[in-house]
Amino acid sequence: MTVALTPAVQFVLVCALADLPVGLGRPFNVGGHSIAVFRTRAGKVFAVAGRCPHKGGPLADGMLAGEQVVCPYHAFRFHAGTGECDQHNVCDVATYPVQVTDGAVRVGVPA
Ligand code: FES
Repeated sequence: MTVALTPAVQFVLVCALADLPVGLGRPFNVGGHSIAVFRTRAGKVFAVAGRCPHKGGPLADGMLAGEQVVCPYHAFRFHAGTGECDQHNVCDVATYPVQVTDGAVRVGVPA
């Protein structure tokens, strides 16, 4: 029998929900990971890698279009939940799990 091992995730407090501007990104360094955190108009919070997989654009300087992160360099879009890119032949961006409890935002990174 094969058992798939899931890497352990540690949730790290990054900020208060009220500190996240709606529709814009904020950068954080979480356990050595550069991460961009976004809050949608509907109140969902997403975390993606801080650097665009295309040419390294700072995704926290981008903005949201619905639930898509728009890179500030060339306007490629990445789904904030899945990381999927809207362009062919461009890698998807890494995503991170998020917990929001009692107004506090925590991002999960490998332990
Ligand atoms: S660097 Fe992000 S779309 Fe080109």
